Order: sequence, then structure tokens, then C-alpha cells
Amino acid sequence: MGKQLYDFGMVGLGVMGRNFLLNVADNGFSIIGLDTNAEQAKALEEEAAGKVAKGTTKVKEFVASLKKPRRIMLLVPAGRVVDIVIEDLLKHVEKGDLIIDGGNSFFEDTDRRLAYLKEKKVEFLGVGVSGGAKGARFGPSIMPGGSKKAYNKVKKILEAVSAKVNGEPCVAYMGKGSAGNYVKMVHNGIEYAMMQLLAESYDILKNIGGLSNEELHKAYTKYNRGKLKSFLVEITAAIFAQPDDLGKGRLIDKILDKAKQKGTGKWTSQNAMDFGIPVPTIDAAVTMRGISSLKAERVAASKVLAVKGSKTKITKAKLVKAVGDALHFAFVTAYAQGLALLTDASKEKNYGLDMEATARIWRGGCIIRASLLEDIRQAYSENEHLPNLMIDPTFAASMKRTHKATRSIIKMGIDAGVPTLAFSASLAYFDAYRDGRLPLNLVQAQRDYFGSHTYERTDKKGKFHTEWS
Ligand code: 6PG
Repeated sequence: MGKQLYDFGMVGLGVMGRNFLLNVADNGFSIIGLDTNAEQAKALEEEAAGKVAKGTTKVKEFVASLKKPRRIMLLVPAGRVVDIVIEDLLKHVEKGDLIIDGGNSFFEDTDRRLAYLKEKKVEFLGVGVSGGAKGARFGPSIMPGGSKKAYNKVKKILEAVSAKVNGEPCVAYMGKGSAGNYVKMVHNGIEYAMMQLLAESYDILKNIGGLSNEELHKAYTKYNRGKLKSFLVEITAAIFAQPDDLGKGRLIDKILDKAKQKGTGKWTSQNAMDFGIPVPTIDAAVTMRGISSLKAERVAASKVLAVKGSKTKITKAKLVKAVGDALHFAFVTAYAQGLALLTDASKEKNYGLDMEATARIWRGGCIIRASLLEDIRQAYSENEHLPNLMIDPTFAASMKRTHKATRSIIKMGIDAGVPTLAFSASLAYFDAYRDGRLPLNLVQAQRDYFGSHTYERTDKKGKFHTEWS
């Protein structure tokens, strides 16, 4: 018998890498994993008992044990580690082999790596993977970018391991270059926005409506049975029911209110600014993580800046209904902003993104999966050039139905002193986008006044400058 050769290799056997690899093995492929930590390599072999699987700590053995052309995926921390691993692999791989980066890599790093590996005649894909540890194990949403030829080398495996919705795999070729990482970055931007909106809805329900954790659990459970059905709403409902394993009461009340971030939401905001595409709800979410981290300052300021707010009198049932409608409204704006950014980035970076395919593969497996995404897919299938999701007839009708509830809960927040930056950003985005004449004519006048920057007129063509007096 010849030496056992494996179909698929993984570098990085932490929870994500190991789970993804076990998922590949479940689908009938033989697997080999590489990690510098022998414990991790051993853990893989134990968990993969009964399957054709191997764990190793030696890069040479790892590469030599793979079928050609080799398919090697990396699930290691984004940044320098990816470059180090690529350098190590380059000592052993051959022309035509494929390296797949499955981490949350910054898209510009992917462009750089693509150019570098092209010189070495090694194929490379930058692939977004969403769904956390569970998703990796049982079906993530996968967003591959790079050359179609490279994708075809691994298409069968990625389709097999991905989540399925109505039998359709939650993976599709996204586009050229760093398209996969860009789509994943924007996915995370939308994720930040939805999480912040849920946090604000919790604040309103708890601090204006007076809902207990049990009532919150019930409210979000109810939301999840209707139009808001989504992974993030589902886990939010579950979180309110979780007892504190180290003390009395529910765990949520003991968790420090400082949100950390690895940077993908911030990258989305930064890049949207670079392209001049507004994503205010995502910006608000990033900003609120920043404010949350100023815990000591906030505690001190809560005394210095104490003001009395007034709580709107409203029944719990009515408030739950209004907040549900506002969440629906604001979720739509978050998807609309992210998808508008993707539409623009696709042109700027020549990715060739298919918006319907993007919505389709986000319907399952990923963190922002939601029943809304089927409607979004539908909207783009009817009009692939939709400039903004909000003007799709179905979404336009739903926003006209839900904007009032959004206004009402924001007003309640303003009166009570409950911050609603993300909800307010969503509403202002909607109001500004549907405003045929914004007051920015004044900004143009001011620019021309102090800087002779010129302005255009509504009634005549050309550029104008006025000697203002
Ligand atoms: C996913 C998640 C995943 C990760 C985030 C967390 O799609 O599976 O988005 O990528 O949990 O990077 O991001 P922060 O640490 O920035 O909140």
C-alpha cells in the first residue's frame, strides 16, 4: 500500500481550524492538520477518530502528505501570522498548489498576498468564513475571493461543508482579488450595527418599559418568531434567560458593559469613508463600542452630568411592539448601508460582485443570517442594479410602515436620556436618503464664501463663484 495522501490540509488547529477540518472530514474527505502546538494536533486526531485524519507539527510532513495540487487552508490570527505561515509553506509547496486564507484578513493584505503568490505561481484565495466555532463545525457561510480557477479547485469541498438553506449551499464565488475578505468585512460591519441596535432596544425595553430579564427573554423570543427571525435575535433571547453560574440572578446583569473589538467593524466604517459611501448605523455601532470602553470616565461623569429625564408612560405590550417595528426598520437600513457599500466597492475595486449571490449565502450559517435575507435576495434578483435596498418596492413599503414606531422609540429615548445613536443614525439615513433637497446647499455656499471652492446651481450648468459680501 502506498503512502496515505490527504485531500485537504489545515494550518491552525485552534477551535475554528479544528472544527472546520472535522466538518471537511464529516463530508467524506481525508484531512490533515498542522499546528505548532502538539496538543492541538493530538486533539484533532482524537476528535477525528474513525475518519481518515492526521495531525502533525511538522510543516514538511504536512505538505508532503497532501494530494496534488495541494489544498491548504489557514485559520490563524489575521495579520503577521498569516505572512509567516505563507513563508513557511512556500519552502515546500509547488507550482499550482492552492493556499486559502480563511481568517478575518484585511482586504489590502489579501491583495498584497495575491500579487506575491502569483509571482511564486502558487494559487491563493482570501475567504471569509462566518458562523463562529459552531458554524465552522456544522456549516458556516463562506465568502471566497480570488481567481475562479483557484476557487474551482476547492469548490466541491467548500460547498459540502457550508451551511445549506433550502438545499442551496451558503458559499458562492464572490469575485476577483480580495472580494471575499471585503464581503466578510462588510458582513461584520452589518453584524456590529445589528448588535448595537439590539443593545439599544434592550436599553429602551429595560429602562423605559421596566421589563425584567424574564420579560426581555419573552419579548425577544416573540420577535424571533416573526419578521425579525435571525440568529442575533435568537441568541439575544437566550442570553436573557441564562442564569449566573457564579452567583444569583441572571448572568447578563453581571457582565461588564465594555465591548471589545477586533477591528472589522472599524475597517468597514473607514473604508466606507474612503469610498464616500454613508454607513451611519455601522459608524454609530463602532462609536458606541468606543464610548462603552470609557467605563471609568462614564461612571465619573454620571455624577457630574446627572440630569433628570422623563419616562414615557406606555404599556409593556405596546412598547415591545414599537421596539420590534423599529428593529425591523433599522435592520433594513443596516443591510442597505452594507450592501450599498459593497455595490460601490465592487465598481471601485473591479470585484464583479453579485449582490443576489451575496444575500443568498448570508441566509444561513453566518452571524447576520436572518429571514430578511431571503427578501433581500429576492429584491436583488428582481433588480440586480438596485442602488439602495430601501427603494425596492417591498422594503419601501415595510419602511413606510415602521418609520413611525422608530421615531416614537427614539423620542422616548431622548426624553428619558437613553442613548439611541444607532437607531437615530438609521432614521436619519432614511430621512436624508429620501430628501430631494437637503440643506447642504448652505455648506456649498459656506465653502465658496471662505475658500472660493465654487458651487453648482440648480438652474444653470457650470461652476460658479461669488464675491460674497
Ligand atoms: C463571524 C464573526 C467573527 C468574529 C468577529 C468578532 O462572522 O463569525 O464576525 O468573525 O466573531 O470577528 O468581531 P469583534 O471581536 O470585532 O466583535
